[in-house]
Amino acid sequence: MISTDPAHKVAQIAHERLLRVNRVGEYISNNILQCIDDNKFNVINLEIGCGHGHWLSSIASCHKGELFVGIDLLSKRIRKADRKRELLNLDNVFFLKAEAGEFLEALPRNLHIKNTFIMYPDPWPKKKHHKKRLIQRCFLRMLHDKSHRGSKLYFKTDHEAYLDWTRQAIANSSLWELGTEDWPHDAPSYFEDLFGNSNSCSATYL
Ligand SMILES: C[S@@+](CC[C@H](N)C(=O)[O-])C[C@H]1O[C@@H](n2cnc3c(N)ncnc32)[C@H](O)[C@@H]1O
Repeated sequence: MISTDPAHKVAQIAHERLLRVNRVGEYISNNILQCIDDNKFNVINLEIGCGHGHWLSSIASCHKGELFVGIDLLSKRIRKADRKRELLNLDNVFFLKAEAGEFLEALPRNLHIKNTFIMYPDPWPKKKHHKKRLIQRCFLRMLHDKSHRGSKLYFKTDHEAYLDWTRQAIANSSLWELGTEDWPHDAPSYFEDLFGNSNSCSATYL
């Protein structure tokens, strides 16, 4: 029976979130941590909102000595990304369905993020939707918590106002410093092919 009690609904949402975080944690333990335990890798490079995995597969195929993880909310995109991984026969990239905050929460303390890449994130252009943007003070704090000295955050968008928003959020943060890094790998993502015309910024862990 569907409950109409608001307190019950809140508890139900929290319970479902916990189940998702646990599921992501299990995936990390059963897959990603195995590579770490084998001493093949000790850090991950993370793409948030990897879409169909074009760009991450490309960078992973050029850096076989590093581990890459792509997450996205949409199962269909993750299935497409996984097919690319299989076709390219890559054993240093994982794609999984996960929400960014939930993935960061599930990431164990012994697994650090070296680089984070965000390409063409949903811009949520209306002011009333700005709170839905991925880049927020609490997101930068959570990402910092799972990153380490030398870690970088790379951000690319075709939406000028979102780029300004991100630069400002980084400038306001005491945890990250605005950087001037070049974009680390020259290959298009699916949305870059569609929209092109992007600008980027980077941040360094403090
Ligand atoms: C506009 S698409 C860009 C996809 C890809 N980066 C590209 O450039 O082709 C944004 C993607 O981010 C995903 N996404 C949005 N919010 C997310 C979140 N909080 N956690 C993980 N993925 C998210 C969406 O499902 C979507 O696939």
